[in-house]
Amino acid sequence: MQKKDLCYAGKAKKLYTTDNPTVFWVEYLDQATALNGAKKDQVVGKGALNNQITSLIFQQLKSEGIPSHFISKISKTEQLVECVEIIPLEVVVRNVAAGSFSKRLQVTEGTPLCFPVVEFYYKEDKLDDPFINDDHVKLLKLATGKEINDIKYLAREINVALQRIFTQIGIKLIDFKIEIGRTKSGQLLLADEISPDTCRLWDLATDKHLDKDIYRRDLGDLVPVYEEVLNRLENQFLVE
Ligand code: C5P
Repeated sequence: MQKKDLCYAGKAKKLYTTDNPTVFWVEYLDQATALNGAKKDQVVGKGALNNQITSLIFQQLKSEGIPSHFISKISKTEQLVECVEIIPLEVVVRNVAAGSFSKRLQVTEGTPLCFPVVEFYYKEDKLDDPFINDDHVKLLKLATGKEINDIKYLAREINVALQRIFTQIGIKLIDFKIEIGRTKSGQLLLADEISPDTCRLWDLATDKHLDKDIYRRDLGDLVPVYEEVLNRLENQFLVE
């Protein structure tokens, strides 16, 4: 497989075309950002950690029947994925109050929610990724009514599978963000990444933060924390 043209440069990843028109080449970068890019730092090793964590989680999800764009990890910082059109939505699922949910609704961080809450944010940097509802999604023609239902169903299934994965390694899944891609034939696939950048992960015994809040809230160095998450996943699930 040959890496060809750069087709998208994001905050934490670059996407390249390949000699196969149905396959993209993803490179994970050593960059940490928060506050929609207002806070930005080079963090050596972060790209490799997130690529390895995402690859392991996507493999595990695939074995549990969750359809995704993931094909294979090809190096510590690179993976191959199926070509999809990314729906410009950040789909957030919450099990425990935290972050913007706690701020917006004044619910103390750490309060368990009696059912998983699914939220949509419009992925549009110049608008600061606003919180939107199903009608907005339809009005903006981001997804059809049926797709909205399918996305919510998939998000809840992924939540169940992820909770099972993280519980086995002594981690509580507080919340997470996913992105969904649409194939040429219209199938919806889990896309992008699932890593401590996109999840809130608290140690089951101590509630210690094992995620990007370390960086967002200036709580210390994120590399050893992400290494701990990768080590726990590898000890439990690595079959290579
Ligand atoms: O900030 P907020 O509480 O809305 O974040 C909810 C979840 O979505 C967190 O796990 C956070 O890491 C993730 N998220 C993300 N990318 C964003 C915004 C939030 O991965 N741009």
